[in-house]
Amino acid sequence: MKRIAILTSGGDAPGMNAAVRAATRAALAQGWQIHGVRNGYAGLIADNMELLRARNVGGIIQRGGTVLGSARCPEFLEAEGRARALHNLARRKINALIVIGGNGSQTGSSLLAATGFPVIGLASTIDNDVFGTDVSIGVDTAVNVTLEAIDRLRTTGASHQRAFLVETMGRRCGHIALFAGIAGGAEVIAIPEREVRPQEVAERLGAAYERGKTHAIVVVAEGARHGAQAMMRYFAKHRDKIGFELRVTTLGHVVRGGIPSAFDRVLATRLGAAAIDWLARDAAGMLLGMRGSDIVATPLEEVAGNTRSIDIALLDMARVLAQ
Ligand code: F6P
Repeated sequence: MKRIAILTSGGDAPGMNAAVRAATRAALAQGWQIHGVRNGYAGLIADNMELLRARNVGGIIQRGGTVLGSARCPEFLEAEGRARALHNLARRKINALIVIGGNGSQTGSSLLAATGFPVIGLASTIDNDVFGTDVSIGVDTAVNVTLEAIDRLRTTGASHQRAFLVETMGRRCGHIALFAGIAGGAEVIAIPEREVRPQEVAERLGAAYERGKTHAIVVVAEGARHGAQAMMRYFAKHRDKIGFELRVTTLGHVVRGGIPSAFDRVLATRLGAAAIDWLARDAAGMLLGMRGSDIVATPLEEVAGNTRSIDIALLDMARVLAQ
């Protein structure tokens, strides 16, 4: 019988709970024990964990956030923090760990795996910047939350002949802005992967106004070189170039909250169950993600320090279609 632990780490992402539920029930089906660690790596260091049973993970598949709690834990990147975590795992006779999280969290799992401890990482972050997967748990919901905001702003924008600048999350990755911008028919999409200067945005809005558009949407990723605030400062001084009256909406953590989409629940469920399949074969040291519709594994050491890049051609396509 195996005794394993599971934690969620870094920024929470809708679908994390579905992954916890799937891994827990798949582990129980193998006759294993599974411990839920509270608040990510911080709980591993503080020895804050409890045994999970099937009923503990009932009624959570539809809940956003993470019932286990999450945290960013710089101590785990230090050898001393990891040593304490390993000590706690050994004392409880836990012989494998599942880490549900994004880049920072998987750097932590890679460091732990390098000590020989069996770890399986599950790609989960709204940013979609994890290397080794097309998509991470939480991305689809975050794109849809942003899209819903765009659709709502378009309604009021059209009524008032206004342009709206919407800033969404994504850290240094433009995926959410790009996908929500395409799906929402945005006039301009500003992402970190390609600089768009405020002057160019003003020109494009002005041209849209001249073409007779009644409203316009600019989606700005939080990591864009010129963020929403910088753009607004520029627009305040060059109001005449834009034509439209302008408003700004910063979505912030709203993007991360809420009910996971069906896509995220299924992805998380498949990844959670796959983690147990891997451990049942005594295989570990891998990040599990999805390519096409297949669950794929990438060595954690390859994942750490690498990031997934976006398809920049989609940005050019969106620009042509914004005419
Ligand atoms: O990584 C997920 C994310 O939501 C990023 O998009 C964002 O930059 C960051 O986390 C915000 O972090 P925090 O919740 O610690 O403020």
